[in-house]
Amino acid sequence: MSELHFSPGLDGVVAGETDIACVDQGVLLYRGYAIEDLAENATFEEAAHLLLYGELPDAAALTAFKQRLDGYRPLAPEVVDALRLIPKAVPMMDVLRTAVSMTGHFDPVSDTADLRERSVWLTAQIASIIAARYRLLNGQEPLNAKPGLSHAAQLLYQANGQEPDELHARLLDLTLVLYAEHEFNASTFTARVICSTLSDLVSAVVGAIGALKGPLHGGANEAAMEMLTQFKTAAEASAWIKDALAHKRKVMGFGHRVYKHGDHRARILERELRKLAASLGAHEWMAIYDAIKEPMVNDKKIYPNLDYPCGLTYYLLGLPLDLYTPLFVAARVTGWCAHFMEQAANNRIYRPLSRYTGPPARPVPARAK
Ligand code: SDX
Repeated sequence: MSELHFSPGLDGVVAGETDIACVDQGVLLYRGYAIEDLAENATFEEAAHLLLYGELPDAAALTAFKQRLDGYRPLAPEVVDALRLIPKAVPMMDVLRTAVSMTGHFDPVSDTADLRERSVWLTAQIASIIAARYRLLNGQEPLNAKPGLSHAAQLLYQANGQEPDELHARLLDLTLVLYAEHEFNASTFTARVICSTLSDLVSAVVGAIGALKGPLHGGANEAAMEMLTQFKTAAEASAWIKDALAHKRKVMGFGHRVYKHGDHRARILERELRKLAASLGAHEWMAIYDAIKEPMVNDKKIYPNLDYPCGLTYYLLGLPLDLYTPLFVAARVTGWCAHFMEQAANNRIYRPLSRYTGPPARPVPARAK
């Protein structure tokens, strides 16, 4: 067999073409708009519209988009019943995987092939599922949406039963913009592979949720915060990171396959995190955060990815750890759906080769008569 090129983890392999996003000289672009610009000037709804429709919405299109999101927020009673039945100890990412699959049986737009409409419906449903489960875990009944709130404010309202303050809503909205899309990451690639067999959108999103859960991918925001919660002081964190690096342990929230000189998104969010921490007097938390970050950057040249500042941001916003990766899903579902539609529009089934390393051909021993 000719020497086939094998790249572990498809590192450096171009596995498809996309006009949805790219990382151009270290800067992430959503359909040509730099993430810094979008973080500064766009809401999650505008970024979601850009990903799903190809353009930023004008005022009328934005109003219509937000109204359709609101219209799709109510959960089928059967989905709420499923949320009640799932044991309390089940992690929210596993609940989300099940509930998205369940809600797919009650999809009001399934009789149309309008993938874009189903994408809007799924985006609304995922936010409602997260909020409903959160309330059930706290012994409260799910809340109906309050029309007119932003997607971020709505999620917090339906979870907590009160409208969030402007800072909390804006920071959550910023994380949703930053998390929404990132070209051929593992969960998006999963969604594209599922699409490439001509399977359906809900199956692709459920598969992508499974991929995102892993701590090497989206689960890193929870894992990074879990790491930080073990320290009471910066000195403890410094001792820990020294030992971790000496034993070549993976430090969650750092490193990236694509960004080798730092994740632009992390720098954007870290600026806001530092302001939030200062406003809360959370100086010790930032000292712990920096005690881990500095040796990683200065000694190892391994930089924070978005998950590192995001974990502490969500923590300081008072969100429970179990919600962090689900919030990543609430944003990334728009990227997954955009890639599903792109793959479906110009499809070839994914079927890579493998390099065989097993035993050579050999005969089955004759059966004893
Ligand atoms: C996300 O792909 C995307 O776009 C993902 C994402 C998105 O928006 O979709 O950006 C979201 O998933 C961000 C990544 C979140 N995961 C983590 O924070 C988990 C910790 N990070 C690592 O596991 C790792 O950095 C990856 C998985 C992110 C990247 O893996 P690679 O590209 O395969 O890099 P590697 O594991 O081959 O590391 C190269 C070297 C190794 O050293 P050597 O074995 O060559 O001596 O760098 C070291 C690694 O040990 N290294 C780390 C490290 N990351 C890399 N060492 C310690 N801690 C780390 N976090």
